[in-house]
Formats: sequence, C-alpha cells, structure tokens
Amino acid sequence: MPVITNIEDLRRIYERRVPRMFYDYAETGSWTEQTFRDNSSDFADIRLRQRVAVDMTGRSTASQMIGQDVAMPVALAPVGLTGMQCADGEIKAARAAAAFGVPFTLSTLSICSIEDVAEHSPAPFWFQVYTLKDDDFMRRLFERARAANCSAIVITLDLQIGGQRHKDIKNGLSAPPKLTAKSVANMMTKWRWGMGMLGTKRRFFGNVIGHAKGVSDPGSLTSWTQEAFDHALDWDRVRQLIEMWGGKVILKGILDAEDAKMAARVGADAIVVSNHGGRQLDGALSSIRVLPEIMDAVGDDIEVHLDSGIRSGQDVLKALALGAKGTMIGRAFVYGLGAMGQQGVTTALEVIHKELDTTMALCGEKNVANLGRHNLLVPRNFGGDWV
Ligand code: GLV
Repeated sequence: MPVITNIEDLRRIYERRVPRMFYDYAETGSWTEQTFRDNSSDFADIRLRQRVAVDMTGRSTASQMIGQDVAMPVALAPVGLTGMQCADGEIKAARAAAAFGVPFTLSTLSICSIEDVAEHSPAPFWFQVYTLKDDDFMRRLFERARAANCSAIVITLDLQIGGQRHKDIKNGLSAPPKLTAKSVANMMTKWRWGMGMLGTKRRFFGNVIGHAKGVSDPGSLTSWTQEAFDHALDWDRVRQLIEMWGGKVILKGILDAEDAKMAARVGADAIVVSNHGGRQLDGALSSIRVLPEIMDAVGDDIEVHLDSGIRSGQDVLKALALGAKGTMIGRAFVYGLGAMGQQGVTTALEVIHKELDTTMALCGEKNVANLGRHNLLVPRNFGGDWV
C-alpha cells in the first residue's frame, strides 16, 4: 500500500492506473491551458499569516453549505464520465462523500444514473444539470432528480458550447471507449481498471441513454455538447429552470461581478465562482483571482462557493479566508477515485481535511467560520491591473 501524503501522490497513481483517454480528459484545460495553470499558480501567490501562542484546542472545520451541515466546506464537484475513471465511479464517490459528511454532486453526463446513485448511496446528493434543447427531457430530468431526493440542483452556466480540449479530440474520447489499436494497447496495461469495467454494466451515459433524443453519437461528449445543449440559454431560461425545480439552486460557472449580481437577482441560493477547471474559456482569469471582486459585488446577497484549482486544504483555506462559504473539488477527488476507488476518494478528503485543519491551527484559528482576510498575505495587485 503506497503512503499517500498529498493529492499529487494520488494523481501519480491515477495516471498509471487509468487509460490515457480518461486521464487526459480530466487532466486537461482548453486550448493553451493557460487558465488551467493559473487556477493553481494563483493560489500559490497568496501567502498565509502565521500566528503563535494561540490556544489550538477544540478546532472545527464543520460548517454549512446552502443550509446543509458539512464536515468541512468542500463538496465534490460534478465531473462528467466519472464512472469511466473507475467502475461504478459515481456510486463510489457518492458513498465516500456521504461517509465523510460532505455533499456529492452528480453530473448530467455521469455513467451511473440518478436512480442508480440514489439506490446505492446513503445520503441525498446534489444533481448538476446542463441545459439541453429538449424541454421534455429537462422536465423529466428534474422529476427524476426529485424522485431521487436530490437536495439541490447545480445549473452549469459556462458550458453551452464546449471549450476545445485538443487531447479529447485526438484520443477520440467516448463512453464506453472506442476500440482502436491505440486505445486497446493502452487499456491492456490497465488491468485493475479493465477488471472493474468487465464486472459492471455501467458503461454508458446513464442519465441520457434511452431518455434523450436527437443525438447522433450518444457515446461522444463532443456530439452531446454540439447537438443537444441549449445554445440559447439566457437569464430568462435560468429563471424558468429555478421555478421548474422549486428547491435549492446553485449556479455554477460565474466569473464576473455583473453575472454574480444577475445570479443573486434571479433568486439562486448560491453561486460557484468557477471557470470550469480551466476547461472552457482559456484566457479567462483564475477563480481565486476574481473571488474578491465577486465578494465585494454580492457577498451580502448570495452564498458564494468557489472551484477550479483546489488541490489542497490550504487552497480551501485561502478561498474561505477571501470570503467563500464553500468550495468544490473535481480533479482532486477524481485522482483518488482512479487511483484507489472509493478508498481513494476518502483518502483525498482526508488529505484535504488534515491540511485545512493543520493550516487553520498554524494561522491561529480554531474554526473555519473565523477565517478571514486577516489570515492571508495577498499581493497588493492580486486582482490584476486589467483595462
Ligand atoms: C464537462 O463538464 C467537461 O468539462 O468535460
């Protein structure tokens, strides 16, 4: 059993154990990957203020996200094709999240279906929706999410059209993977992954196959985004969807103060400041860099979460100290899942929790609720001098 001390350890094992096509899918940004890289390096630009001789006993990372108790303010982000990273991946991730006490978000483009995850995991989860042209399908999706007792929907606003990821095109990404000489040769070296996949029936987009119409190649993510996604999505449609759901709504993909204000105006419960992990608009600013401006614009009006670039509990702490009430991790849990299945997701959460808790203590804080700007050393011009 390898000794895992940080998320990068999990990434290295993940890279060895999962077919290249799915590793590349997760570990990529769009075009030049500038935003993908900035998401992490901008976190590193923020430093922490050390305080000493402060009573560190009785610390707590427990908090709330959209009114739900969480063991730490870190939810698992929706990640498409999670069940291709490891057999039954969404069920395993949902179980690990439930046992840890953090929310799991199921992607519309998951392999395990909403019903399947609800049946096999013990806690209500959040369901992420892309807005598709097919209104019937959307209504049924909401009904299915309601029947599965989902406690919130997360509407993704930054992917009406897909940012180009070169590797996915070159690899011919699909679920299940197409059998070419290259993909078969690579998969043969991933016996652990292959055994898992042979032992499960869950190898297709479980929420859409048999439910949605009008897509020529239902295994291809590219076809999905090009043909089925609603390119006309606007704020009126967002309002309609919020009404159609009638429960808690999180709007994901906000990167601009004006959009954050609109999100608060349409009555969402929370926003996720996000650039989709650098997978959509390459050249956009990192999430952490825009967070202060968004907090200034809407911090009193709506709950703010942040994702994109979080690879450690220190990153979580920095986001919270800049005002976010919660965070989401995508790649950090996928690395764990691909490396070691459910146990790997638990390990990823434990690593992040320990880093958050220890860093909090060394900053002289006992409770995540008390984290603030006073814990950080932020470069004077962190927001950037853009015109
Ligand atoms: C889907 O959300 C993706 O980023 O591939």
